[in-house]
Amino acid sequence: MNELDSIVANALQSFGNANTPNDLENAKAQFLGKSGRLTELMKGLASLSVEDKKLRGAAINTAKQAIEAALNARRQALADAELEVQLKAEALDVSLPGRRRGGGGLHPVSLTLERIEGIFGSMGFEVAQGPEIETDWFNFTALNTPEDHPARSMHDTFYVEGGYLLRTHTSPMQIRHAVQHVKKYRARIDAGQSMPEIRVIAPGRTYRVDSDATHSPMFHQCEGLWIGEDVSFKDLKVVFTDFCRTFFESDDLVLRFRPSFFPFTEPSAEIDIQFQDGPLAGRWLEVAGSGQVHPNVVRNMGLDPEKYIGFAFGMGPDRLTMLRYGVNDLRLFFDGDVRFLSQFQ
Ligand code: DAH
Repeated sequence: MNELDSIVANALQSFGNANTPNDLENAKAQFLGKSGRLTELMKGLASLSVEDKKLRGAAINTAKQAIEAALNARRQALADAELEVQLKAEALDVSLPGRRRGGGGLHPVSLTLERIEGIFGSMGFEVAQGPEIETDWFNFTALNTPEDHPARSMHDTFYVEGGYLLRTHTSPMQIRHAVQHVKKYRARIDAGQSMPEIRVIAPGRTYRVDSDATHSPMFHQCEGLWIGEDVSFKDLKVVFTDFCRTFFESDDLVLRFRPSFFPFTEPSAEIDIQFQDGPLAGRWLEVAGSGQVHPNVVRNMGLDPEKYIGFAFGMGPDRLTMLRYGVNDLRLFFDGDVRFLSQFQ
């Protein structure tokens, strides 16, 4: 083997042994670098005759091309190998399930409100909304609770600027809704014709200065009102019993109408329910206040109490939610802890 062939063979071997791009570049320097073996041979050309220079030069060039070809091939091979390793390391398992964002859900009290609206909706009740900042008139006076009436002290009222207050119950919606309804049918009423019955529920937020495990300064109520020419306490019992049994999905739920006092109803009753099964079986639990709408309130609705009569009730959706799901601390509803809330999704 002549010298050039052995240089080429050596180069091929060194390149083959180089396992990293760095090793390969070092190996290249030994042959093609400034003082590499092939470069040294080139320098020796100067002392040759023109003829020899040509021959020798051509031979060296061929060797150089062979070395460069081997170098490039090895560079490519190392780059391919490196890419292979990288691809393996970054491999994606496309069969893995996707990462889902945590799904949202309705608040348990919202679920209850939807349920209440659905059940009363099926009985022909409209749903009305009204302001949380109220006037004294709608919250108290129109509801037959005059200035110095002791019933006002039953409510710990948040007063706000300008003589307004945060509504202490949803009962003002009885007046607001009835007044709107009566306005719509004023001409018919004045002509002595009958007006379509008022049948409405009004769910929403209410406020009182009160805070413990079963009271929150902000809580929910849902008002109900049915006024017509022939609506009796019996209808209240039927409607509310039906509602409770549907809401709690329990046909043998027992209701008790316990005599009570509210300025805006006469007679008035508190409504208690009794579960026959489950952890609360046998206990009486208060769920609503109710009664036959007081003649003064009917008058404030713009109607003649000699002709129009009906019932009203006000219940606590927070309480209903606690009973339905077995929650024992009202504050859990308003703390915003997702560990609690996500259980209702
Ligand atoms: N507004 C009463 C309260 O907050 C509840 C209530 C009682 C509403 C009797 C009514 C009713 O409509 O007829 O305690």
